[in-house]
This record gives sequence, C-alpha cells and structure tokens, in this order.
Amino acid sequence: MANTALPRAKKDNKSLLRFITCGSVDDGKSTLIGRLLYETGQIYDDQFKTLQEETNKYGTTGKDIDFALLLDGLQSEREQGITIDVAYRYFSSEKRKYIIADTPGHEQYTRNMVTGASTANLAVVLIDARKGILDQTKRHSFISSLLGIKHIVLAVNKIDLIDYDKKIFDNIVKDFQNFSQDLNFETIKTFPISARYGDNITGLSKNVSWYEGSTMLEYLDNIDVDSDMEAQPLRFPVQAGVRPNHDFRGISGTLASGKLNINDTALIAKSNQKTKINRIISPNGETKKAVAGQALTLCLEDEIDISRGDILACSKFPPSIADQFRAKLIWFNDAPMIPGRSYILRTMTDETNATITKLQCQIDINDFSRKAAKELEINCIGVCNFSTQDKIVFDAYSDNKATGSFILIDRMTNDTVGAGLIEYPLWRSQNVQWQSLDIDKQARSIQKQQTPFVLWFTGLSGAGKSTVANLLEKKLNSIGKHTYLLDGDNVRHGLNRDLGFTEGDRVENIRRVSEVGKLMADAGLIVLISLISPFRSEREMAKSIFGENEFLEVFVDTPIEVCAKRDPKGLYKKAMDGEIKNFTGIDSPYENPENPDIHLAASENTPEDLVTKVEADLRKRKLL
Ligand code: ADX
Repeated sequence: MANTALPRAKKDNKSLLRFITCGSVDDGKSTLIGRLLYETGQIYDDQFKTLQEETNKYGTTGKDIDFALLLDGLQSEREQGITIDVAYRYFSSEKRKYIIADTPGHEQYTRNMVTGASTANLAVVLIDARKGILDQTKRHSFISSLLGIKHIVLAVNKIDLIDYDKKIFDNIVKDFQNFSQDLNFETIKTFPISARYGDNITGLSKNVSWYEGSTMLEYLDNIDVDSDMEAQPLRFPVQAGVRPNHDFRGISGTLASGKLNINDTALIAKSNQKTKINRIISPNGETKKAVAGQALTLCLEDEIDISRGDILACSKFPPSIADQFRAKLIWFNDAPMIPGRSYILRTMTDETNATITKLQCQIDINDFSRKAAKELEINCIGVCNFSTQDKIVFDAYSDNKATGSFILIDRMTNDTVGAGLIEYPLWRSQNVQWQSLDIDKQARSIQKQQTPFVLWFTGLSGAGKSTVANLLEKKLNSIGKHTYLLDGDNVRHGLNRDLGFTEGDRVENIRRVSEVGKLMADAGLIVLISLISPFRSEREMAKSIFGENEFLEVFVDTPIEVCAKRDPKGLYKKAMDGEIKNFTGIDSPYENPENPDIHLAASENTPEDLVTKVEADLRKRKLL
C-alpha cells in the first residue's frame, strides 16, 4: 500500500480526491457509486440501456435505475481470473477528478478496507436511515481512523424510506458523533440522501425540505485535502538514481510531502549530510518549485552517495532512522502472524528483512479495546515491535502516510501478508552499537586452519539427523577439525527449555539456534545443527544470516512411515494415540526442502554411506 500513497496529482488543473466508501452490504454503496458515475456523465448510453433492461428484469419498473447492477457488472468483468480486493472507480466533475476505492464487504473486509483506505483522503460512510449505526459502520470508521483518514462524509441513505424524517436523521448524526469522538476525525459532514432517487447527491432535493446544506458532490468538489501534505515537512523518498550520461546525475521519486524550491537545502537522511537542490525537473519540464504529489527528478549540488531507499528531508524536522520500532500491524494472510518469523519489509522505496520481536497486544476492531495475544489471525490488528536487518528511514504514520507505512511480504510465497503503520522508533536500538573486535572470524579460522561453515540437518523426527550428524562430527574430529554439534533435543534442555512445539515456539527455537550457530561459526568452528526445522520460511531465514557458501541445508529424507516404524523415542505412538499434540508429520506440518544443498536418501543408505557422501560433497566445495 505504501507504494501508491500519493497525496494528489495535478495535470489538467483539476485536483484529485481519493475516497473510500464504507458501509454494510445493503446500505446502498453500489447504488451511490453508480448514481455518481451516471450523474457526472461517466456511463455510456448503451450501458444505461442495459441497466434499464436489467432493472426491469428484476421487477423494478419506471424511471428508477438499479445502479448497483451496473457495478456488479463491472465487478464481474474485472474479477475474471484474478482476485480483486479493491475496485477503483474513476469519475470527474467540473471541478475535480475522483478515484473511489470500492471495497467489497465480504469477510475479508479489513484487508480490503485497509488497502482502499491507505490512499484515501476521505471516507464516505453510508448508513441505512432505517437501521442507523451498525457494527459494520463502527468497524469501518475505526479502520478509516486508524489509516489516518481525517475527513468523513456521513451519507444517511434511503432517506425516502423514512419519509424524510428530520428527527431520525438528527439522531443518527448525534449517534455517530458520540461514537466517533475518539477517532480524531477533523471534519464530519452529514447528508440526508437517497442514492436510488438522487436526492442531495448532485442536485438538491425538494423532498428533504428541512435540509439547508449543499449537495454531496458540491461538498466533495470543494473540501480542501491538498494542503494537508503540502504543509508537512519535506519528504522525497528516492526511487532511483538517474544517470543517463556522464553530465547528468539526478535522483527520481515522488514528493511525498512538503514543498521544494530551487536552492533549498535538504538533508539526506541515511548519511545525515546536507545538500542543495540545483535543478527540479517535472514531467512537464524544468521548474523552480514543486509540491507534494509531483513525480520529479532532482539534481543536487554535491556528488553525494544517495540511492533508492533514502529520503531527502527537511533538516529541521528529520525523519527517524532505526532498525527497531513500534507499529500497528494489520494481518492479511490466512496463515497467522508469528512473532520471530522473518518477513520482507517494504516501505515506499526501501526493502529489508524484518521480524516481529514482540506482539504487544491485539486491537479489537469492534470496541477498540486491547487484549493480550500470541498470534495475529487474518484481518486482525496488533501492536508490535519490529526489528529490521538494515536501518530504515521513516516517520510516524500519523505524521506522514507515505513514509510511515510499509507492507510485509512472505519470503516463500511472495504474498503481501500484512500492512504496517509505524508509531515510533525504539531508541534502545540506538543505544546498542556493534562493537568491532580485533580478533575476528578470519583470525580465528586461520588459527584453527579451517573454513568455518554450518551444516543444517533438517528432517522428520526419527529421520536419522542426529545419527548422521553425530557420525560426521566424529569423522571431522578425527581429521583434526574443530566442530560443534547443536542438537534440537539437547538445546531444548537448556537455552530453549522454555519453548514447546507450537508454530510460534518452533520459530523461536530455530531463530535462537541459528543465532548461536552464527556465533559458533564466528568463533571459527564447523557447526552441525540438527533440528526438525519443519518450516521453509525459518530455514530460509537461518540461511539468510550467514554469508555465501557458509550455510548448507542437508535434507535427511526419510519417509514418515519409516520414521514412525523406527519410533526410537516412542513419540509417534504417543502422537497417534493423541497423548502429545503438534507432533511433526502427524498434526503439525513438515515442509520438504525444495532445493537442499545436500539430499540424503536416508532410508536407503547406511549412516556410514551418508557420511561418506556428505564428506565428498564438502571436499568438492573446498570446505574441507
Ligand atoms: S523443531 O521443530 O523446533 O525444529 P526440534 O528439532 O527442536 O524441533 O525438537 C524435536 C525433538 O523434540 C524431536 O526429535 C522429539 O524428540 C522431541 N519432540 C517432543 N515433542 C515433539 C513434537 N510435538 N513434535 C516434534 N518433536 C517433538
């Protein structure tokens, strides 16, 4: 979502307003959107004719059109072959261009709404006048507030069905104001409308005689949402360095907030250096100034190292740079979020590995209360501590949507699994610095006359991992190598005695063992690690903390039937009898390595043969 969070774009002098529509299934959302498109002339005659026919087919006769049918049509057209969570609709009035993020209200509403709301300046909250404020209205308003939407249009729809009753309307308005007191909306504007008959949408209605305000479209045409981002401190996230030839050196990106003038001084956030803006080039040519929302190429006075992921910022109000921070996380994925698992974190222009080090609490989107949680399920919102591999530059989301948001991507599937709204940096990261030591890995390995590396044995319980690792260690020891074998069962007696076998505990188990393995390799040792390590994602994470050729995944491949028959510790029997839970291969998954560095067909060979095979492989790789 961060990638599209552009405040506005001005081309034909019409400003752009992005809004999201919220409401329950029958509140008339589609009808309202259809009505807006129709009355602003975006619907072709043939579409209109089909619409009339369809409306008649469904039993409604006369002049009124079921606009919802039009949108359903567009929807199914767009949904062919792809899952669309948010449909964007475009229309324009005399004054403005509009993009509506229309989010279907099915069970994945949080994910859809978050996606839509992340780029919206305003939310139209639709209410069925007969029903008043529903749970769905509250949830949607809360998410709008969470996503930093400041302006609400409260559209009390189906006003015709309550006989244009002012009292009912006033009560709904009062209810909404009471409920939304803590949601930090700057403006809430209310309209009595009928999407079906067009009352007060683009034309004032005679039916609602007591109503003295403007039409909804007139209000949308005139509300000022642009100045918000222009008034914020300068942020120019760098998308790319531009160097078409030796004479030209620039950086490109979109001005996320603030204004820029030629000769302005700006701070390059990552290197903390100041520079001057020499040239500003927009798609329409060279210019002297620019405002938030514009795509630009900038030339700087100094030849400073600045690349993608950095931010050119106002030096008086610099962004934060940290590798630990607190953020709200909205979880999108079917598989729950597990603290300790490594994900790819992508900001508007930067990307790094990240783990959630702590799930502080979960926020209930029905009553905004906070409660303790161990995992986040799909569509849930949590408050989390994050730790990233590299430092990133950011703002609080409440200050700047574009530079304060990120998405999380699953390393294995490439799916977007969550969206984050940053709250503040955790300064402890600033106070702990890496201490460089004179005796390093190289010095230690020279002394030991060996290349340190990690052999990561993965496989089912009873596959033979520990047997092979043990035999191999004996062999390595006999040829004078300095080794250590980290065995799952053994580590769980001390360092990891607090961990069980839930997915979350296994993730933490593997994280800790990887870190210990890293320290041991740093000590110059050849490290053998024997863990079931059932998840690809964690094995991948383990690999990612080591250098190239320093980590070899060894798949000890024994069919589960063989393991269960061997059952050296009697655990398969217990698991099958239901005495122990979450047992790998029985009621907890094992994800086979797709591309292991060394594959051992462990049921078809003796442990001695397997050790010979590994040794030969290591020699081929020049590790021995
Ligand atoms: S891992 O999944 O977190 O990598 P690890 O290798 O540390 O597991 O520990 C696995 C060992 O714990 C097994 O060899 C087995 O002896 C024991 N064990 C006890 N309960 C379970 C369980 N539910 N699932 C798997 N192994 C278990």
